[in-house]
Amino acid sequence: MQPRGGSFGSLEEGKESTTRITSQTNRSFPLRLLQFILLLLGIGIVFSVLSMYASWYIKVQNEVPMIHPKFQRCVQESKDIESWIKPPLNLSHYMNDTELFWRASFVPKIKEYPFKRTPKIAFMFLTRGPLPMAPLWERFFKGNEKLYSIYVHTFPSYRPDFPPSSVFYGRQIPSQVAEWGRMSMCDAERRLLANALLDISNEWFILLSEACIPLQNFSIIYRYISRSRFSFVGSFDEPGPYGRGRYNDKMSLEVNITDWRKGSQWFEVNRKLAVDIIRDTTYYPKFEKFCRPACYVDEHYFQTMLSIESPHLLANRSLTWADWSRGGAHPATFGKADIKDNLFQKIFDGELCLYNNQPTKLCFLFARKFAPSALDHLLEHSSKFFGY
Ligand SMILES: *[C@@H]1O[C@H](CO)[C@@H](O)[C@H](O)[C@H]1NC(C)=O
Ligand SMILES: *[C@@H]1O[C@H](CO)[C@@H](O)[C@H](O)[C@H]1NC(C)=O
Ligand SMILES: *[C@@H]1O[C@H](CO)[C@@H](O)[C@H](O)[C@H]1NC(C)=O
Ligand SMILES: *[C@@H]1O[C@H](CO)[C@@H](O)[C@H](O)[C@H]1NC(C)=O
Ligand SMILES: *[C@@H]1O[C@H](CO)[C@@H](O)[C@H](O)[C@H]1NC(C)=O
Repeated sequence: MQPRGGSFGSLEEGKESTTRITSQTNRSFPLRLLQFILLLLGIGIVFSVLSMYASWYIKVQNEVPMIHPKFQRCVQESKDIESWIKPPLNLSHYMNDTELFWRASFVPKIKEYPFKRTPKIAFMFLTRGPLPMAPLWERFFKGNEKLYSIYVHTFPSYRPDFPPSSVFYGRQIPSQVAEWGRMSMCDAERRLLANALLDISNEWFILLSEACIPLQNFSIIYRYISRSRFSFVGSFDEPGPYGRGRYNDKMSLEVNITDWRKGSQWFEVNRKLAVDIIRDTTYYPKFEKFCRPACYVDEHYFQTMLSIESPHLLANRSLTWADWSRGGAHPATFGKADIKDNLFQKIFDGELCLYNNQPTKLCFLFARKFAPSALDHLLEHSSKFFGY
């Protein structure tokens, strides 16, 4: 038979097979019975598979853990602005530096905050371990809870034992070993800045050591920093061997010798400069490679970089006083016997400096270096010396 066209052909075939089955039915009854039994068997298998799946599904449903009320609240809160501006409750995290710096570099493009933002000062303590001056700082911070936050970078193995009532409790950030005069020191400072940047309320960032003390009460320090048009980064051009003498020609593409700066490690920067520091990939590799001891990178890297990028934002002086009068590589350390009225009078009556382009005698808000033995005397006279 010749096919006559697609649809007609198949119709004919269908007709043919129907006739064939009808004729077979009468011929082989046992075969029909077998088919029926197989069908029943098939249905049985399908049903048992379905019921197994159903019981598994119910079991899995029951195993889904109850959502803890705390997380339910998080889910709810993520709907309002609060959840985006709230600082992290717990400073511990599992980001490495690459991830942390990336996250910390987020900057809003809309400059007006659609909520009441009280700008805070981030006090960043860089220490090997203990903070012997903590009781003095506690007294200084008391009553100003909304205006500051604290971050502590220690040796990674160090476990501080501050009680929950302390302002330092739970303020240790994930830390790594930092060696004086090496890039790992600048890494630690960038790590402090990046962790502090995660709190959108932090507007000013001060680097301090365990040997630093505050020289004024909190309100004076807050007003001084918040009303300054410049950030307090010590930065000057020194011709001698300890200044330009540490410059390496191999970085001349990025840093001209005339741009080379030196200054104190203990800086204060605003949020813009803090982001500039943690996002830098231009100067970092050059300083890492070409500024190694006797080039002490923490005295040159941020100072030079910020002077090139944002000279108009820098006061070019540090807020932290130190006594270099003896000469040598380290400033004087003050112990118990040195804590006398005239020590602080010397600092307060010292040189003149510029504040918002006006001369002032109030040049230093912090001082170093103070030995643990000095603490008791400082606590005893803190109200007379410092007004807190
Ligand atoms: C951090 O982790 C990412 C992803 O694993 C990796 O690409 C990056 O190199 C790491 N950074 C550091 C500093 O270890
Ligand atoms: C922060 O979380 C870590 C674990 O992620 C925990 O060990 C630590 O005690 C917490 N710190 C505070 C202050 O709650
Ligand atoms: C801080 O010190 C200044 C000047 O000594 C004083 O006028 C002010 O009342 C002090 N503030 C507080 C909160 O003690
Ligand atoms: C450094 O700056 C000086 C003066 O601005 C200029 O004459 C000199 O060519 C510069 N050097 C390099 C290597 O760019
Ligand atoms: C700080 O020094 C830079 C040059 O490095 C200069 O442009 C800037 O005006 C100085 N800042 C102040 C407040 O004088």
